[in-house]
Amino acid sequence: MKIEFYRHGLEEVDILNVSKVLRSTFLTTGPVTTEFENRFANYVGLNQVIGLNSCTAALHLSLLALGIGPGDEVITTPMTFIATATAIMHTGATPVFVDVEEDTAMLDTCKIEEAITPHTKAILPVHLYGAMVDMKALRRIADRHSLKIIEDCAHCIEGERDGIRPGQLSDAACYSFYATKNLTCGEGGAVATQNPELAEKIKLLRLHGMSKDAATRYTDLYRHWDMLLEGWKYNMHDISAALLVDQIKRLDGYWQKRDKLWKLYNKGFRDIEEIRIPKVKGKSAKHMYTIWVNTEKRDEILYQIQEKGIGIAVNYRAIHTLTFLRKQFGFKPEDFPVANHIGESTISLPLYPGLKNNEINYIIDAVKKSIQT
Ligand SMILES: Cc1ncc(COP(=O)(O)O)c(C=O)c1O
Repeated sequence: MKIEFYRHGLEEVDILNVSKVLRSTFLTTGPVTTEFENRFANYVGLNQVIGLNSCTAALHLSLLALGIGPGDEVITTPMTFIATATAIMHTGATPVFVDVEEDTAMLDTCKIEEAITPHTKAILPVHLYGAMVDMKALRRIADRHSLKIIEDCAHCIEGERDGIRPGQLSDAACYSFYATKNLTCGEGGAVATQNPELAEKIKLLRLHGMSKDAATRYTDLYRHWDMLLEGWKYNMHDISAALLVDQIKRLDGYWQKRDKLWKLYNKGFRDIEEIRIPKVKGKSAKHMYTIWVNTEKRDEILYQIQEKGIGIAVNYRAIHTLTFLRKQFGFKPEDFPVANHIGESTISLPLYPGLKNNEINYIIDAVKKSIQT
């Protein structure tokens, strides 16, 4: 059997939407991007959405638009994808890691205050695997120290905790539509915010700081445009947006399917002492099904699972242990022992709506066999 780590759920309607754009004259940021922004804003329950070409861009521009730059420090987690930290570094600010909780692998809010210095300007939590960080606790800390909050929601479109969804207690929520995400166009991202001024600034920053985007420059009569800020080239285009507009309607159905698969995994691993499952508090977006195994055996187990034709991923090896960041900031693995330990024990298994029950059973069986040999 061959089971890929991820298979997208694009349908004929999505392909048709893309062909409509391809048959039109307008390929870049235009009416379909606006349609996507409106529909996504409606889905996430935040009134402003700006379509971009990645979550990395979303994090970078949110930080910039909130005034973060050289000399500033941003508190974040080492248990994440490298883009969380590099987006901070792109602004000239320094990522300051705080260790994670043993049971969720997410930012330990009890340890944040001891990392705050006069240079700290923001906290950047990551809603890992789809579960949410304790945003109420984070909001209290941010208020006490006048800090901004930018959420990395690359894994968490559908999550909720304590009645709070991403973006409700923060300045900006940043989403990814990368190839393996719950909502995908291959490469894409967005910022969602409740702050119209911040949204306007991010709109300027996403396209060279130009006062008019391509749609207004070319569909209306030509009018001179101005450069108002130093900006970037991060805009989402209509070809990507065309892949997203109808998928949004299917998000809840997809979540239901992943929820069923998630429960099958939980049942399958229930009695296996050697497997730990990250704890979920609240409603997880169920983006990744991740297991934690013995650190000494992890690599052997993941090789064996792959030998049986199953695609896996490691989300993540703690990023303070990766060569560049280690050299740049002088980190040692033991600086963030919990993240380091989780990074050495983690394996993510396939989880997507198209996964069939017999495939899940095959994976459960393969994982159990790999652990027991
Ligand atoms: C937690 C996290 N943050 C940020 C990113 C960056 O997203 P993108 O590839 O859309 O820039 C990813 C992508 O995989 C991610 O998983």
